[in-house]
Order: sequence, then structure tokens, then C-alpha cells
Amino acid sequence: MLRIVHDRLTAEEFITLWSSVWDGAPSIEQAELAMKNSLFRVTVFDGDKPVAMARMIGDLGLCCYIKDVIVLPGYQGKGIGRILMEELIGFVRSHGVPGTAVSAELCAMPDKMPFYAKFGFSANEAQRMRLFIKAK
Ligand SMILES: CC(C)(COP(=O)(O)OP(=O)(O)OC[C@H]1O[C@@H](n2cnc3c(N)ncnc32)[C@H](O)[C@@H]1OP(=O)(O)O)[C@@H](O)C(=O)NCCC(=O)NCCS
Repeated sequence: MLRIVHDRLTAEEFITLWSSVWDGAPSIEQAELAMKNSLFRVTVFDGDKPVAMARMIGDLGLCCYIKDVIVLPGYQGKGIGRILMEELIGFVRSHGVPGTAVSAELCAMPDKMPFYAKFGFSANEAQRMRLFIKAK
């Protein structure tokens, strides 16, 4: 039985789910700050086990950014990614300024673009630019 939980994703759960699909997980201190400053976090549990997560950052008035959409490998292909995306989109629908549109952005590898396209996301000519800023 799957359970959807809002705004409870912990730094430890974040790191565990991250590490199930990607290398280079952040430190616990980095993840704690990221959880604290996220606009919205969603976790899907199978019983007591966290099996998927996603989060959103941004201002909600004008824009938001979708980050870290991850389904544990053994749980992929069962509709859980769709649950995550619907929760994120639903959060903006419920909390944005009524009658206005909020720009939702994300960064996707080419093989994941068809997944996001299912929810209406499309690419434009803008390119992602990135800089890792070292904190003192
Ligand atoms: C991408 C990811 C979140 C998808 O989650 P999922 O639970 O496997 O997806 P779902 O089963 O909910 O699929 C929803 C729909 O998207 C489709 N879909 C899922 N992944 C797809 C892909 N890579 N390409 C094309 N379609 C895809 C499914 O077929 C399904 O279509 P349908 O609703 O019409 O039947 C998951 O594969 C994942 O966690 N990958 C590793 C982490 C990652 O790369 N995250 C994305 C960062 S950009």
C-alpha cells in the first residue's frame, strides 16, 4: 500500500534515494539545508520504506523549479513517477495566485524528456548555464 507524504522528507531519506540512482550524494549538512529551504517536498512510502521523492524550489508567485524526481529502481515503471509529478503540479495549482500562471522549470537528461513531456513540459531554445559556487 503506497502512502504519499508532504514536507516530511528527511535529509537521510533524501541521501538514500539519491544514492539509489546517482553518484555524488550531498553531505547530510547540505541535504538538511536543502530540505529546510525547499518549497515543497513529496515522499512516497511503501509501508515504512521511502520509495520515491521529489521536491520543488522557488517563489510560487512567478516561478518554481522541480528537482530530484527519483523513484527507487525496483519501483520504477509502476506509475509512481506520475504520482510525484501530479503532487508537484497540484501543489502549485493550490498555492499560486488564483487566475495566474506560474512558470515551472526543470532540467532533464534527453532520455527523461519524454517522461516530463507527458505532463506538458516542453523544451525551448534556452540552454542551461551552471556554476558551482564554493561556500567559504
Ligand atoms: C524518471 C522516473 C522518475 C520515472 O518514474 P517512473 O515511476 O518509472 O514513471 P511512471 O511509471 O510513473 O511513468 C509515467 C509515464 O511516463 C512514462 N515514462 C516513464 N519514464 C519514461 C522515459 N524514460 N521515457 C519515456 N516515457 C517514460 C511511462 O511509460 C508512463 O507513461 P503512461 O502514463 O502513458 O503509461 C524514474 O525512472 C527515475 O526515478 N529515474 C531515475 C532518476 C531520474 O533520472 N530522475 C529524473 C531526473 S531528470
